[in-house]
Amino acid sequence: MRLGIISALYEEQQGLVEAMERPYKLIHGEREYWLGQLWEIDAVCVLSRIGKVAAALTAATLVEKFGVTHILFTGVAGAGDKTVQVGDIVVAESLVQHDMDASPLFPRFEVPLTGLTHFPADHRLGARLMDAAQSFLDNDFEEAIDPLEKAAFHLSRPRIHRGLIASGDQFVNDREHINGLNAALPGLVAVEMEGAAVAQVCHELGLPCAVIRTISDNANENAATDFMRFVKSVAARYAFHIVRRFCLETEETIVQASSEAAGV
Ligand code: ADE
Repeated sequence: MRLGIISALYEEQQGLVEAMERPYKLIHGEREYWLGQLWEIDAVCVLSRIGKVAAALTAATLVEKFGVTHILFTGVAGAGDKTVQVGDIVVAESLVQHDMDASPLFPRFEVPLTGLTHFPADHRLGARLMDAAQSFLDNDFEEAIDPLEKAAFHLSRPRIHRGLIASGDQFVNDREHINGLNAALPGLVAVEMEGAAVAQVCHELGLPCAVIRTISDNANENAATDFMRFVKSVAARYAFHIVRRFCLETEETIVQASSEAAGV
């Protein structure tokens, strides 16, 4: 297994690169790819930057040039439903490009000539991420987030959701817009700007991908308020601890599977 980990923002990636054993940096296509071991897992960490094209280029490069076998995307998102709150965690079940509209030639949201509106995320990776997120909330959350930041963002009992994530080249900060997307996309839990592009690349190249997001805002008029503060003091911590727990659990699964295969 070689795990590609894509983050959209520098603050989220920084902790992971610092945690890497024997890190080695390669620059390609205006991006820094960090190769090394993360908690015994062979990993490549990279900052995609923002938007679907940036994310698609990064994902394709991870596969074609760096030989990753699995892709994990971590980042922040706006809430896509009233049941989802700031500080909650969402894991993608499937992903849709909400700004794709080639109607009347193709149905709204369908990526032309793929026959698909929804691109699946890998079920097993998603289940492992759910476990890692739950372990984070149960064991790390209290210590990892500064009490002042918990109070400022009203983080008391964060929850985990699994469902549909919608991506588009828009920062959604308008109540009518998010309500319209919620109505048009049943099961929507979050909106962001990259995940569905990564899911399409992984689908077409035939490798498993997973997307996990911390909810930073309600995708309404206040969405941009304190955005960077949230990324630095909350989301970066979530991403670090969840990826750490994901790698530790994954390593255990690999060791178990190989000793079972060896009849130990
Ligand atoms: N990422 C975080 N919040 C977002 C929003 N409201 N719209 C798009 N991407 C986001």
